[in-house]
Amino acid sequence: MDFAKGLPRRSILQAGLVAAGASAFVPTRFAIGNTAKVKVGFLLPYTGTYAGLGEAITNGFKLAIEERGGKLGGRDIQFVAVDDESNPAKGPENTSKLVSGENVDFVVGPVHSGVALGMVKVVRETGTIAVIANAGAGAATGPLCAPNIFRTSFTNWQTAYPMGKVAVERGLKNVVTISWKYAAGEEALSGFEAGFTKAGGKVVKQILVPFPSDEFQANLTEIAALKPDGVFTFFAGAGALKFVKDYAAAGLKSIPLMGPGFLTDGVLKAQGEAAEGVLTTLHYADALDTPENKSFRAAYAKAFGKEADVYAVQGYDSAQLLVQGMAAVKGDTSAKPALIEAMEKSVIKSPRGTFTLSKAHNPVQDIYLRQVKGGQEIVLGVAEKGLADPATGCKMA
Ligand code: BEZ
Repeated sequence: MDFAKGLPRRSILQAGLVAAGASAFVPTRFAIGNTAKVKVGFLLPYTGTYAGLGEAITNGFKLAIEERGGKLGGRDIQFVAVDDESNPAKGPENTSKLVSGENVDFVVGPVHSGVALGMVKVVRETGTIAVIANAGAGAATGPLCAPNIFRTSFTNWQTAYPMGKVAVERGLKNVVTISWKYAAGEEALSGFEAGFTKAGGKVVKQILVPFPSDEFQANLTEIAALKPDGVFTFFAGAGALKFVKDYAAAGLKSIPLMGPGFLTDGVLKAQGEAAEGVLTTLHYADALDTPENKSFRAAYAKAFGKEADVYAVQGYDSAQLLVQGMAAVKGDTSAKPALIEAMEKSVIKSPRGTFTLSKAHNPVQDIYLRQVKGGQEIVLGVAEKGLADPATGCKMA
């Protein structure tokens, strides 16, 4: 039997030294680990409809690390990246490439909820600490929650539920909902519907299209025929860009368009006039007038020559979470219970506003109401203050 199988890489290294008779000085496991680089594995999309999101998360993460001295717990960092292609079928395999193939200390990602479910399956088995930097699948901090799984982004429910009440307050009673047919879209639509029906509204039709299709013409024709008071939608990345443009081109702009802020975040400039009036709820807005947001946005623009968005913020905050955890254990990744405890207690001074984590390891955060006016994302107010996901089914071991 290979006794080293399943041991952490550093244990294997130490075992090797002892077996080779390096008897004069056998460093402790931490002494060896402390000099090695910390390995951070990005499980993110670098191709396809969510490619821009993966890049923004990576940039945001690296920016936060650079600003904090380029280390984690005093140790240098080695980054390894796997393009997850937003392909749920490859989620477990791509996670294993990082966890078993590369022996990473941390997995950061993914964007796509379906990929997240595959990743969660693997890290629940290996115990590798994962920081979900976008994917909003409720199950990851619900029935599949675990001590080693953290999220710095949102649940799909969190970004959609608050819009239900807003829609009714704006006199929208009959609404059509439309999204891609996968966990993120379905959870966002059902989150909206829960808030909307509670406030007295009615969803007259739910339309689901395959991911990542951006052929919306037939659906837009159907919406025009239904003549709803409003349309609620979840799309993100290149799909969001296309949907908003097609919606305007189909002559539907007289029907208010709503959704989680992914509908415009990162693609607003490219959407141009078509995005005018779009109403969204999200845990971030470019225009937040706080010192943290202003300095973050300026530093991001300087470093990468482009505007930051919500995905960059989530990458930035994922790094902040690891910085705080690793500082508490002075870089000793083998002190896992202490590392996890420090991460649980983190207070993240985010560009979105300061947030903490719930017992299920998901942000408790304000959800802003935003609207595009004159080509800018304007903050109309806070739709829900300190919103926590219900985390139904989460039982921490
Ligand atoms: C998701 O799959 O969870 C997701 C993807 C893009 C934006 C927001 C959520």
